[in-house]
Amino acid sequence: MQDVAIEVKDLRKEFGKVVAVDQVSFTVMESEIVGFLGANGAGKTTLIHLLLGLLTPSSGSIRIFGLSPASSRREILSFSNFASGYTSLPSNLTVKENLLVFSRLYQVKNPEKKILSLLNQLEIAHLQNKITGFLSAGELTRTCLCKALLNEPRLLFLDEPTAGLDPSIADKVCELLLNLRRETGLTIVYTSHNMRDVERLCDRIIFMKSGKIITQGIPLEIVRQFKQKSLEELFIQLVRK
Ligand SMILES: Nc1ncnc2c1ncn2[C@@H]1O[C@H](COP(=O)(O)OP(=O)(O)OP(=O)(O)O)[C@@H](O)[C@H]1O
Ligand SMILES: [Mg+2]
Repeated sequence: MQDVAIEVKDLRKEFGKVVAVDQVSFTVMESEIVGFLGANGAGKTTLIHLLLGLLTPSSGSIRIFGLSPASSRREILSFSNFASGYTSLPSNLTVKENLLVFSRLYQVKNPEKKILSLLNQLEIAHLQNKITGFLSAGELTRTCLCKALLNEPRLLFLDEPTAGLDPSIADKVCELLLNLRRETGLTIVYTSHNMRDVERLCDRIIFMKSGKIITQGIPLEIVRQFKQKSLEELFIQLVRK
């Protein structure tokens, strides 16, 4: 039987007068890939930062495999990881040096072998000795994905991981994530504005608007339910309504 990976109840996060996450409740099962969708400013990144324990909720509760990010952040981080199309890494180190630093932090066994395998899977092995600050946006995104997979996470938070990737590489990243899920039972919480990637990856989507969940379900079922032709059309309809 699958475990509950994430359980969120009545979660709220205020930044002054802005309610970025507004009484949000949901469950993610182990091995599920759940995509959070919504317009710019809907609250997706704030939600991921709350799940990672980077932000403290104004109210509500979060359980990650039964643990609270407030009291068990270290333990949660030992089996989870995070990547985003917008994070950076120390820019004066080479790609390999950066990944070696994280390998040490994560206590990865045989780090050289693991790093090379990930670099090959993301097709950036030729960049291993390049200074990170000189990488293109898509190369940096792929390096961040390598970092996020170093500790063989059980739970992966991905905030727009395919932003800045060309369609061919984005497709390969989706394939890699689906293979990992099949092989290791990985759970993924994901955000993207690329509906093609969302359709390919997500078992379920949760649509947010102004901090609230407005609908959720299996992508193609929601598209049908709202009498739309595609996820992209559904997105536009829900955002503009
Ligand atoms: N540290 C902060 N201080 C003040 N307001 C914030 C802060 N972080 C986020 N916000 C606000 O909270 C709301 C939600 O922002 P968030 O970054 O979660 O949106 P998002 O759904 O990830 O959007 P995008 O698709 O553009 O990435 C926005 O109105 C944003 O301006
Ligand atoms: Mg965001």
